[in-house]
Amino acid sequence: MTAKTIVVGNFKGGVGKTKVSVMASWEYATLLNKKVLLVDMDPQGNASTLVARSAGIDAIDKTIFEGFRSEDLQSVVMNVTENLDLIPAAVSFKNFSKFLYSKFSNDLDQITYLKKLLEPLKANYDYIFIDVPPTISDYSDNAMMASDYVLIILQAQELSLEGAEKYISYLQFMADEYDADIQVLGVLPVLLRAGGRVDQSTVIRATELFGEDNVFKSVIKHLERLKAWDMTGIRNDDHHDRKAHQAFIDVVNEIEEKLERFELVGKYE
Ligand SMILES: Nc1ncnc2c1ncn2[C@@H]1O[C@H](COP(=O)(O)OP(=O)(O)OP(=O)(O)O)[C@@H](O)[C@H]1O
Ligand SMILES: [Mg+2]
Repeated sequence: MTAKTIVVGNFKGGVGKTKVSVMASWEYATLLNKKVLLVDMDPQGNASTLVARSAGIDAIDKTIFEGFRSEDLQSVVMNVTENLDLIPAAVSFKNFSKFLYSKFSNDLDQITYLKKLLEPLKANYDYIFIDVPPTISDYSDNAMMASDYVLIILQAQELSLEGAEKYISYLQFMADEYDADIQVLGVLPVLLRAGGRVDQSTVIRATELFGEDNVFKSVIKHLERLKAWDMTGIRNDDHHDRKAHQAFIDVVNEIEEKLERFELVGKYE
C-alpha cells in the first residue's frame, strides 16, 4: 500500500476547502473502508476541530508543529475512527515559516519538508488528504510539493474563477521552478451561498479552461446541514444528514473513477 496524496486547493478564503477535505476523508474511511490520513496544514485548525468534534474527542495534545520540530510526523498521528487518522493543527503552527527558515537555508528544503516527513507514513494508508489555508505560503507550498494530485474547488456561483485560476497558474509556476510533480485530479463545483444554483457560464468557462474531463459532474450544493455540522460534528441521524453524506459519497466515487484513469494512463506511458 502506498498512499495517494491529495491536496484540496483554491487561493480564496471560505470556499469550502476544509469541508471537502474532511468529508472526502470521512466517506473514504467510513463508507469505502479505506485507510485515510487527514493532514491539517492550516494553523486555524478547522479540519482538526471538525474531525475531533465528530469523533467525540475533546482534547488534542500533540499537533503537527511538534511533529515538524521532532522530524517525526508519525509521533503526532491521532487515531479518530477505525480507518481514519488525523495529524491535527493548532495556532502554535503559525510559526512554521520562522521554523523552516531557521532550519533550512535552501528554499527547496523549506518547501519539501512535509513531503520528506510524510514519505515513511505512506505505506500505512490508501489516501492522504491535506487541508491548507487560502494563502500562497509555506503551508500551501509544502502541501503542493507533498501531493500527487490536487482537487481544485470552483465557486460555481461566482462569475470569476479567480481562486481556482490563480491556483492553477501557481501550480504551473511550481512545476517550472521546482519540478513539482502534481496532477490536477479535477475541479469540483461548490455552492457556498444559500438559494444559489450553479452558474452555467462559470462551469462552461471552467470546462474550457481545465478540460471537460477535469470538471466534476458532481456538485456540492449549499446545504444548511453541512454548516450545522461545524457545531454538532458530522452526524448520520436523519434524512438531512444522509443527503449531506450522499453529496460527498458521489464526489468520492468520482475521485475513484478519475484516479483509475490516471493510473491506467501512467501504466501505459
Ligand atoms: N456546501 C456547503 N453548504 C453550506 N455551508 C458550507 C458548505 N461548505 C462549507 N460550508 C460552510 O462555509 C464555511 C466555509 O467553509 P470551509 O471552512 O470549508 O471553507 P475554506 O475554504 O476551508 O475556508 P478557509 O479559506 O478559511 O480555510 C464554513 O462555515 C462551512 O461550514
Ligand atoms: Mg479551511
